[in-house]
Amino acid sequence: MPTFDRIQYPGFQDKIMTAEQAAALIPEHANVGMSGFTGSGAPKEVPLALAKRIEELHAQGKEFKIGLWTGASTAPEIDGALAKVNGINMRMPYQSDPIARQRINEGSMQYCDIHLSHVAQFVWFGFYGKLNVAVVEVTGVLPDGRLIPSTSVGNNKTWLEQADMIILEVNDRQSMGLAGMHDIYYGTDLPPRRKPIPMVKPSDRIGEPYLRCDPNKVIAVVPTHKSDRNSPFKPADAEFVQIAGHLIEFFEHEVKKGRLPANLLPLQSGVGNIANAVLAGLNKGPFENLTAYTEVLQDGMLEMLRTGKLASASATAFSLSPEAEKEFTENIDFYRDKVVLRPQEISNHPELIRRLGLIAMNAMIEADIYGNVNSTHVMGSSIMNGIGGSGDFARNAYLSIFMAKSSAKKGDISCIVPMVSHTDHTEHDVQILVTEQGLADLRGLSPKQRAKVVIENCAHPDYRPMLKDYYERALKTAPGKHTPMLLDEALSWHQRFNDTGSMKP
Ligand code: COA
Repeated sequence: MPTFDRIQYPGFQDKIMTAEQAAALIPEHANVGMSGFTGSGAPKEVPLALAKRIEELHAQGKEFKIGLWTGASTAPEIDGALAKVNGINMRMPYQSDPIARQRINEGSMQYCDIHLSHVAQFVWFGFYGKLNVAVVEVTGVLPDGRLIPSTSVGNNKTWLEQADMIILEVNDRQSMGLAGMHDIYYGTDLPPRRKPIPMVKPSDRIGEPYLRCDPNKVIAVVPTHKSDRNSPFKPADAEFVQIAGHLIEFFEHEVKKGRLPANLLPLQSGVGNIANAVLAGLNKGPFENLTAYTEVLQDGMLEMLRTGKLASASATAFSLSPEAEKEFTENIDFYRDKVVLRPQEISNHPELIRRLGLIAMNAMIEADIYGNVNSTHVMGSSIMNGIGGSGDFARNAYLSIFMAKSSAKKGDISCIVPMVSHTDHTEHDVQILVTEQGLADLRGLSPKQRAKVVIENCAHPDYRPMLKDYYERALKTAPGKHTPMLLDEALSWHQRFNDTGSMKP
């Protein structure tokens, strides 16, 4: 359907304008809430036009920056373009763009890396100040002004409710077949008025298929015609396949023990290459009739829906490779009743994660011998991406699993270390660690018991003797102590990498 036919609310006809005209309406220092969760459903034109405007203003010696709030990571058209022109003063809650990362790590952009389930409520609480403008991509506008959401929901409900001004991008490259796939829950409230969220299984629909929108707040409607910018995943290499294999063996064991049902529990699978590869492994594995209650639907889950391994999937966004996106759009009628897209405050809600009893599988940067996990920082100080939803899920899931290759950067970095250089998930929230070397089941183990299992099962053979040596000396230095540590050595591996380019002596 051509874009103009998609804007069916009569009052919007005289608000249709170009991206440049719309970008000119965004005030300096505005807090801008943009749609987008990965490249999916991100606005395609207004952020680029805004970046151009900022570049021109900076060239004239004028200061202009915005606060940029989103669902999670976006696309180069948002994070990349705005970071390049140094147009962001504060970014939240998650990013994975190389230029934005550089800005954060050089100190020219503030970054507030918070749990994704917290964003909407923190904005409602007023912790981040006023949201001035919402820039939201939609698939279409209904005659009564309600909006057909795009390929992600993220925080769009909150942005539309909280912003003083709304700019809509209506993208005719998004399939009209998306209509009906979304479930927007309007029952959240602030304490003490909160009520339980009425969901008991991942496929439950508890809200409405469309976004409400006050038409009086809409200041611009911009027609766009670009597909989502999504990146391909790394092909699953032998180590990814081994990680998936260890997990499948563990799930089989848990089913035998009666601790998991035959179709497991709802799966949550994190972002990135490892998570995607694990799903590919599950697709070939023995489990049938699985369900997913997760944050992003990657290629792997789509494939599982196609093969019938996965009966239904709930998420807040797609995160597909270009090939998977094409296949999804061509077969959207097949997927519509199997996929539910929800606001991220619901897809990542601790209350629901605990109630549904999820199996949470997230990738990590490093873990230490006691089970603390670093998901966000390289060598302690440099941000990689952010915590995303990993904390929402890890803390509240039935099973909290973290996975990584045992070494990185051609073996110069051990991903199992004496002490993590930054902690996102404490030993209390981490139950299972998996590398290509094996799986460490930390449930029910004390710190000293955990250290032995992590070193033995997960460490790379090049680093295992070094870890054993560290642990044994720590034990001797602090006999009987609960969590033995060599204070002057715990972070020395990271220091050595910074000094020499390798954690190896
Ligand atoms: N130190 C330094 N770099 C490391 C490292 C370590 N200990 N471990 C991995 N890396 C590097 C890899 O070498 C790779 O670098 P490259 O891109 O230059 O090749 C990069 O980190 C990504 O690693 P990869 O093995 O491809 O894993 P991934 O794509 O699965 O990403 C995370 C791993 C941890 C960065 C990613 O999952 C993430 O950002 N997680 C946090 C958010 C989250 O968990 N969200 C899910 C909630 S739903």
